[in-house]
Amino acid sequence: MKTIIEPFRIKSVEPIRFTTRDEREKILVEAGYNPFLIHADDVLIDLLTDSGTSAMSSKQWAGVMDGDESYAGSKSFYRFEAAVRKITGDKFIIPTHQGRAAEKILFSILGGEGKYIPNNTHFDTTRANIEFTGAEAVDLLNEIGKHPEQRADFKGNMDLDALENFIQEKGVDNIPVVMITITNNSGGGQPVSMQNIRETKEICDKYKIPLFLDACRFAENAYFIKKREEGYQDKSVLEICQEMFSYADGATMSAKKDALVNIGGFLSLNDEELAMKCRNLLIVTEGFPTYGGLAGRDLEAVAQGLEEVVDEHYLEYRIRSTEYLGEKMLNAGIPIIEPPGGHAIYIDAKRFIPQIPPNQYPGQSIVCELYLEGGIRSVEIGSVMFGKYHKATGELISPPMELVRMAIPRRVYTQSHIDYVAEVLIEVFKNKDKLKGYKITYEAPMLRHFTAKFEPIN
Ligand code: F0G
Repeated sequence: MKTIIEPFRIKSVEPIRFTTRDEREKILVEAGYNPFLIHADDVLIDLLTDSGTSAMSSKQWAGVMDGDESYAGSKSFYRFEAAVRKITGDKFIIPTHQGRAAEKILFSILGGEGKYIPNNTHFDTTRANIEFTGAEAVDLLNEIGKHPEQRADFKGNMDLDALENFIQEKGVDNIPVVMITITNNSGGGQPVSMQNIRETKEICDKYKIPLFLDACRFAENAYFIKKREEGYQDKSVLEICQEMFSYADGATMSAKKDALVNIGGFLSLNDEELAMKCRNLLIVTEGFPTYGGLAGRDLEAVAQGLEEVVDEHYLEYRIRSTEYLGEKMLNAGIPIIEPPGGHAIYIDAKRFIPQIPPNQYPGQSIVCELYLEGGIRSVEIGSVMFGKYHKATGELISPPMELVRMAIPRRVYTQSHIDYVAEVLIEVFKNKDKLKGYKITYEAPMLRHFTAKFEPIN
C-alpha cells in the first residue's frame, strides 16, 4: 500500500510564527494559563478546534467572488439550498450563521421547563442552549463509548435500551425531540452506525418523537460506516449520507466542520409548522430566511464545500491523517481514546498523569505543557469544560473522562506538521512526572472554559 497523500496542491500559503520557550512562558502567564486567551499569532500549530479552521478550495474562493448579495432570493441561497437538500433530502433548509444559532432557534421552540432532550452526547453549546430554556439535556451514550481504552467500531452509538427506558420514565409528552450527534464530538469523535441511527428512529417512531441529527461531522461519520459497517462497502459516501439523513426528521448543522467553510450553519427539516416557527425566530435573530445571518458569498462557499466533503479521496486522507497521529502516540505508549476518531485525537489525561486528581485539572496541565514545549494549542475536555459544583458542599463534580483534544483542521496541516506534533507530545510524555496540577482563579457562571484563569499548584 502506498502513502495516502493530501489530495490537493497548495496554491496559497500562510506563514506561521515561531516563538521561544521563554516567550511562551510569559504568554501563558498573561493568558491565565488558558489557551483560549492566547493570541493566535503566538501559536505555532493550532489544534484548538477543527471548527471554522478549514482551508477553502480554489472553487470555494471562486464562489466567494461569485456570491449574490441580494437581500432576498439571492441565487447563492438557491445553490446552497439545493446542495444541502441533496444530502439531507429535507423540505425546509434554513441558513444560520453557525451551528449554535440553529440550536438556539430549535430549542427556543422545542425546549422549556420540564422537557428532556436525549442525545448520545450533547456538545457543550447544544447542552447550554437546551438548559438555557429550562429543559434538561441528557446523555445516553452506549457503555463501550465510556471506556477510552477499549476499541470498537461505533463507540458513538446511542444506548437504545436506556433511550426507551428514559422515554417511558419521563413520558412522551416531555420529550420533544431525540438527537444523535454524528460523529460524537464530546465522546472522542467516535462514529455512530447506520444500524444505531435506524434503530433509534424505530424507537422514536414508536413513541412519535422526532429524531434530529447534530450533523456537524456527517461526512466523516459516513466514511466510517463505509469502512466498518457490513453492507456499505460498495455504497458511495453520498448514498450513505442520504440514508443517514433519511432516518431523521431534521438536523442542526455547523457548516464550520464538514462543509469546509470558516462560518455558517443551517437547520434542515421536514415539518412545515416547525419550519415556519423557526423562520419567524430566524428573522428576529439572524436575518431574512434566504440569508439567515450569512453573506451570499458564505452560502456559495458552503454549497461548494458540501460537494467537496463527500469526495472519497478527501475523506480517505482526512480520516487517515487523524489515525496517523493516533498511531504515533500509541506506539509511544501515550494513552488516547481508541480507536482514533474522525476529527481529533483525545489524550486520556487520567492515564497520562494519574498523579494529578480531577480537581487539579490534569487535562489543563497537559494543554499548558504542550504549548510550552512546542507552541501547540489544544483544549481540555474534562473537569474544566464540564465540571459542576455540588450545590450544598461546593465540591467539584467531575465528568467521567478527563481529556485533551487535539482537533485537526481540514486541509490545513501537512504530514510534517503532524510529525512535529507527535514529537512534542512524546517529549511531554517523557517528562510527565514533572507536570503540575492547576487551580482556577476566575470563572464565569456558564461555559467557563472559554474565559477561566488558572494558576499552577506548587
Ligand atoms: N455540535 C457539535 C457536535 C459541535 O462540535 C459544535 C461545535 C456545535 C454543535 C456548535 O457549532 O460552533 O458552529 O456554533 N464545535 C466546535 C468544536 C466549537 O470545537 O468542537 P458552532
